[in-house]
Amino acid sequence: MTRALKERVDSREARREPPYRSTMELTPEQQKTLGEKLGGIQNYNPVVLREMARKDRRFFAPLIMSILSAEFRGIDFFGRFVVDTEEEVPWHMTLGFARQTFDESRHTLLNMKLLVHLGSSLGEFPDIILGPQRDNIPPEELDPAILLARVNVALEGFALTTFEEIRALAEQTGEEMVAHCHDYNMADEVTHVALGDYWLEKLSQVQPWRKERARAAQQEFETNIAMVRQMARSYMASAQQEQTTNGNGS
Ligand SMILES: [Fe+2]
Ligand SMILES: [Fe+2]
Repeated sequence: MTRALKERVDSREARREPPYRSTMELTPEQQKTLGEKLGGIQNYNPVVLREMARKDRRFFAPLIMSILSAEFRGIDFFGRFVVDTEEEVPWHMTLGFARQTFDESRHTLLNMKLLVHLGSSLGEFPDIILGPQRDNIPPEELDPAILLARVNVALEGFALTTFEEIRALAEQTGEEMVAHCHDYNMADEVTHVALGDYWLEKLSQVQPWRKERARAAQQEFETNIAMVRQMARSYMASAQQEQTTNGNGS
């Protein structure tokens, strides 16, 4: 009999080369350099960067890096999900998520090339951490349906909106390559959200208690994401207000 995937991998630790490095892990010197590049370290947020990129194409690179961070986390999360849930879920679900892991790998390659096209490379900007990390999720929430609700339905749904916004911005500003790549990415993300919806429904049919718990997890996640977006919008609004007051508004 074939051995379970769990028994065939030696480690489930997420590793990357260059290693993950969040803004918090930068040295004071690196934080200063980042702050100089972005007009303040607090601007390292995808919603803020998108508005900045609208006026200056230099900000497309950090914006793409924020997406690329999430794509890497996608490989880690779904790769581990495939291995850890194999024995609890239908085989076709395992295959579906193995396929999604492969898609996320292509997205990282695509966005890495895009970074180079924009004059940057992996490592210039730190990683952005979005959503719960696998090791921070309490054990009772490690049920496949709850994980799916949190990540596939809510986070991928958020990614889809973000890609659409970036694609529209790239089209408006004549960044053809960014628009093209994000159009491609989006097509995959649509299938990822659908895959999550489909399997969440199937798993809930087997164990109906999952439906309520999954809905609550998804809502909690979406509320947090909405809060982050709102904070960034308020920040942008007050920055613009300040510019106008100082007479520099355009
Ligand atoms: Fe992706
Ligand atoms: Fe995805």
